[in-house]
Amino acid sequence: MCRVGVLDRFRRPLANLRVSVTDRCNLRCHYCMPERDYVWLPRTNILTFEEIERLVDVFVSLGTSKVRLTGGEPLLRKNLPDLIALLAEKPALTDLALTTNGVLLAEQVGALRAAGLPRITVSLDTLKNDRFLALTRFDNLSTVLHGLECAASAGFDSVKIDTVVIRGMNDDELVPILEHGRALGVEVRFIEYMDVGGATQWSMRDVLSREEILRQLASYYGPILPLEERTAAPADRFTLPDGTVFGIISSTTQPFCGQCDRSRLTADGLWYRCLYAPTGTDLRGPLRADANQAELRDLISADWLARDDRGAEDRLASSDRSTLISVETLQGEPHLEMHTRGG
Ligand code: GTP
Ligand code: 5AD
Ligand code: SF4
Repeated sequence: MCRVGVLDRFRRPLANLRVSVTDRCNLRCHYCMPERDYVWLPRTNILTFEEIERLVDVFVSLGTSKVRLTGGEPLLRKNLPDLIALLAEKPALTDLALTTNGVLLAEQVGALRAAGLPRITVSLDTLKNDRFLALTRFDNLSTVLHGLECAASAGFDSVKIDTVVIRGMNDDELVPILEHGRALGVEVRFIEYMDVGGATQWSMRDVLSREEILRQLASYYGPILPLEERTAAPADRFTLPDGTVFGIISSTTQPFCGQCDRSRLTADGLWYRCLYAPTGTDLRGPLRADANQAELRDLISADWLARDDRGAEDRLASSDRSTLISVETLQGEPHLEMHTRGG
């Protein structure tokens, strides 16, 4: 297949695709799924692995070289290693990764590695049992920590920890989490709490900014140096005086829309070109109506050429920065939820 990369209106490539394999989750994180009830995608709409593979091939033909599997919680999807095996053998995909909450990791890590998964990111927001329960509504911290340990010794090219920092919730655990990652040889990234769909309890007061995170770490460790890197990755990376590297993803206070090369495919085949976009493109319909690869390619390429989304920057510029989407609206349109769109 000929690979001609397509660029959007700000010359951003379609390089990075996040594929959500399920909207279901086995945790209820305060920053993502704080409500009692959720409306789930109908099961008949969920793409099969063959359908996902067909779409990934079209994206690859338009310049995509990185795929990240997400959810909801991706390890809830039955036979996920089969999909990983399909994707891992595509030479054009130079990066394949998975983001998980870690609850099912210990039991699945061997199969994930055997299927050819090179990289994994585990969400870990606290090291305290009672806090984990308060944050996620499940008493699963020890299971997650065990999963993380198994991952750290499973021979991945890279294992990372993602920590969403919330003021008054876990902002006193930056050093312990960094130390935990260091002991396991795992890079920690601190993520600013974002006002994405699903974060119905969000308030700017609860956001610990990148500057505050750096100040807190510097007061414990001493001078912190930025790593000079130019990448499209959302994390800016830093080094501690002893050389330990960590990252900060400052989507809320210093968005990186200018370099954003990522788009998102939901488990039911809707394609979103921004985390904050109100609407996406239905790819499942054409796929199931027997559109051929060239037709799918034209559809995707036309929408990417027209892309001018800068969702996080628009939010930063908005004068009224309160919760983005109401609970009522989210219940009518679950595609607006972060757990549907892929965290
Ligand atoms: P690496 O390739 O390992 O650097 O991964 P990544 O940072 O692309 O992926 P990961 O799933 O670890 O993303 C970390 C977090 O960054 C997500 O959970 C979000 O909080 C945030 N993030 C990811 N994608 C986007 C995006 O498109 N826009 C914004 N504003 N934030 C994003
Ligand atoms: N703010 C920041 N990150 C979020 N995630 C989900 N909701 C939010 C939010 N409101 C991301 C986190 C989590 C991943 C699964 O999704 O990185 O670790
Ligand atoms: Fe938490 Fe991820 Fe589940 Fe959202 S999708 S509730 S962030 S584990």
